[in-house]
Amino acid sequence: MCGIVGYVGEKNSPEVLIDGLKKLEYRGYDSAGIAFFEENEINIIKSRGKLQNLINKINENKKIHSTCGIGHTRWATHGEPSHINSHPHGSKTLAIVHNGIIENYLPLKEELLSKGYNFLSQTDSEVLALLLDYYYEKDPIFAVNKMVEKIKGSYALGIIFRDYPEKIFAVKRDSPLIIGKGKGENFIASDIPAILKYTNKYIILEEGEIAEITKECIRIYNRDNQLIEKEILTATWDENAAEKNGFPHFMLKEIYEEGEILRKTISPYYDGNINFKFQNITDENINSIKKIHIIGCGTAMHAGLIGKNIIEKLCKIPVEVHIASEFRYSETVIDKQDLILAISQSGETADTIAALKKAGDYGCRTIAVVNVLGSSITRISDDVIYTFAGPEISVASTKAYLVQIAIMYLLALKISEIKNLISENEIAENISYMLSLEKKINQILNNSDKIKHFAYDFHGYENLFYIGRGLDYSIAAEASLKLKEISYIHSETYAAGELKHGAISLITKDFPVIALATDENLFDKMLSNIKEIKSRGGKVLLITTENIAKEKLSDRKEDIADYIFQIPETKHLFIPFVAIIPLQLFAYYMAVLRGCDVDKPRNLAKSVTVE
Ligand code: M6R
Repeated sequence: MCGIVGYVGEKNSPEVLIDGLKKLEYRGYDSAGIAFFEENEINIIKSRGKLQNLINKINENKKIHSTCGIGHTRWATHGEPSHINSHPHGSKTLAIVHNGIIENYLPLKEELLSKGYNFLSQTDSEVLALLLDYYYEKDPIFAVNKMVEKIKGSYALGIIFRDYPEKIFAVKRDSPLIIGKGKGENFIASDIPAILKYTNKYIILEEGEIAEITKECIRIYNRDNQLIEKEILTATWDENAAEKNGFPHFMLKEIYEEGEILRKTISPYYDGNINFKFQNITDENINSIKKIHIIGCGTAMHAGLIGKNIIEKLCKIPVEVHIASEFRYSETVIDKQDLILAISQSGETADTIAALKKAGDYGCRTIAVVNVLGSSITRISDDVIYTFAGPEISVASTKAYLVQIAIMYLLALKISEIKNLISENEIAENISYMLSLEKKINQILNNSDKIKHFAYDFHGYENLFYIGRGLDYSIAAEASLKLKEISYIHSETYAAGELKHGAISLITKDFPVIALATDENLFDKMLSNIKEIKSRGGKVLLITTENIAKEKLSDRKEDIADYIFQIPETKHLFIPFVAIIPLQLFAYYMAVLRGCDVDKPRNLAKSVTVE
């Protein structure tokens, strides 16, 4: 979704703004712009398309020197991606950048039109600029408060007023915004990577708070207009973590980090005991859980599917996985004693936030599994378990998924310990096994040429099925999402046994299948399904384990599948950690071979902060 940056200090603001916007490109956008002070006037430059178009336009100007400004990357919601709809929007007195959606913009627009205002764009955001202008009588905080009273919806706003050429104002509700605290310079941004080059200190702006920022000072007002003290947080991510470091794409770099971050996520939570430090949830609460509901979107929801398999197996508690956007309007039966687990990389996904709030209304305990420190979801859950993936820049989530599932395993082990279903020794064995998976992950990464070769043979197809049973079926759901989101190939996941109930009619020589068969106990069933596909002309890439290949396929491999990838031998319970790696690589190489913009797929945004 849209990205916001703002800078006030000694440096040339357009350069800092562009730098920050580049770091926010991963959020997805279709136009960009900046507003900055020059000789005490507000100057706006904006452009449709990639940031480079904006940079070219900035460079057409005489040398700019400005020490205060705001910038924006826009992901179109209201009005097509165009120069006129790009942000900043403004009047003679001010300029704004906005992330979010103003739900009541139409009646407000009518009202402003009747007061003689003219609109240039089709955006909801321009309403904010003109509404502010209407209320502005030399007192920015008063005007912002008045505007906030009138608007409904979600917003993170950066604002500059012509009368205050050394100040940035900011306000937010339901859209992320942080304030970066530097030395003699300060920032606003939608996300931490935008400021990491300059500072790792930041403040999270809470709902309804207004910030007034100069190069030396950050003032925050609460909803009652009182100045308040805010905690200054320190990001542990280093600037390098948000760089490609020699990899052609962030996605590939992030896949190659998976072994290491698996260790980095598990280790802090195990010191001989699984040591989640819950503030609000007791062992007693956990003992009385009737059911667990997992909520999330996209990849995070798929991590929940793995969680369901593992928690049900280890803890004997029923688990239901909900798509957050469905859950928020559903009539799901929830008991007060149920536990809600919300999974989110960004911690800012609007649907997951809404679903979590709804869960809170039932009076259930909520735990969030989140990657971004201090993000919105962490502030509305009873307890938080952080994943330590570092910044994930590629829109396609890879490493975040891996550590989300790691937390599912740790939670399952912890709950089964509390319920006396597992011994300390067994927990220790399981943790040490999980840590040993780093080696197997790296072994697969070292064999990536093989996957590249498969991708070469498959990248011309327009349709694909992923099939599996049990855990493999849940892994396949994520594999299929990865492929479609970055390569634009239509793919679907099917429970292998379900194919013959309808979808097998689609199988032809042009409709290949990726079959995941890593469970020895279910392999023969999978084999029958694979035969059904082969006998209808479908090409099959089989992902299985070394042991299965040795024991069950021996000398007839070619008859069974057209291609086979063997995963290093892994206990089946832990197979998701290793089986997902070749599938992420497969999606990556397919997208590269098709010439797709891997890190920034069309129409997508990294964190989906609107409904
Ligand atoms: O930040 P979140 O984990 O809440 O994001 C949820 C989904 O939007 C996200 O996983 C999305 O599906 C990814 N693009 C998938 O790669």
